[in-house]
Amino acid sequence: MIVVGNDSFGERLAKAIDATFVQFEQRTFPDGEVCPRILGDVDKDVILVNHVKLPLEPNKYLIETLFLVKTLQELGAENIDVVMPYFIYARQDKAFRGGEPFSARYVLETLHKSGMSRFFTVSSHTERDKDKLTISGMPAFNVNGFVSIGNYLKKKKFSDPIIVGPDEGAEHFASTVADILDCKYILLEKHRDLDTGEIEMKSNHDLHGKEAIIVDDIISSGGTMLNTINLLKKSNAKSISVYAVHLVSEKGMEKISPHVREFLASDTIETPISRISVVEQLGEKLKTLR
Ligand code: R5P
Repeated sequence: MIVVGNDSFGERLAKAIDATFVQFEQRTFPDGEVCPRILGDVDKDVILVNHVKLPLEPNKYLIETLFLVKTLQELGAENIDVVMPYFIYARQDKAFRGGEPFSARYVLETLHKSGMSRFFTVSSHTERDKDKLTISGMPAFNVNGFVSIGNYLKKKKFSDPIIVGPDEGAEHFASTVADILDCKYILLEKHRDLDTGEIEMKSNHDLHGKEAIIVDDIISSGGTMLNTINLLKKSNAKSISVYAVHLVSEKGMEKISPHVREFLASDTIETPISRISVVEQLGEKLKTLR
């Protein structure tokens, strides 16, 4: 079995599951077309991990992954597992308005039709509380990245922590971390206007003396998180820290960092603050399914 990857994330994953690492080179021509190249021998069993960094380029990433799956198949691979630490397009997990695509499903279907056997991701925004994603009918596994965040936080010394989820959809994340830290969690109320993107949030919790730990799956514009931080500032919390699995934009990072005690993300995407690794957990999942 080999792990085909573009950077140290793939190398670390290969080490975690005792597989051989084979590098692929990323090339982009001046007109924007991509031409990845696998720089080693291909095995029957392949795990392909295309790890992204900021700024995200989802379209380029998708085409590159698609070409790699097809190339691997032509080079003799029979089982091709795709590890997409950050599931691109997963936020569009339904057609929110008439005429829009169900992008998350289309990504899985396209990769499957191209030769992908199974799909692995971390804290997918779609079907976020499930270990197995059902949106496409193909084997797709969802590793809970909040376990890695919880394990990181457990090593820190919090005297009176409380986990905060920015909206009701964050219950699964907040409860995972709260269970690991053996503390309580609360969820705020959020409403986003689909046309303007404007966010309205509510909370009437008094967090006097508490160390508020906000957790979310994705930080994109940073709007949700900034609103959450501003609400918590009014709740008398002793300190505020933020942890996210996927930090998808630098803007989000710049918006939040000055307002909190600590702001970290996992390494599903390479960013300046990706200091919590999900590699071990991903490796465990891959090993149990071999
Ligand atoms: C929403 O359901 C997600 O969990 C995140 O809260 C959201 O995607 C964050 O987006 P933004 O940073 O643009 O507010």
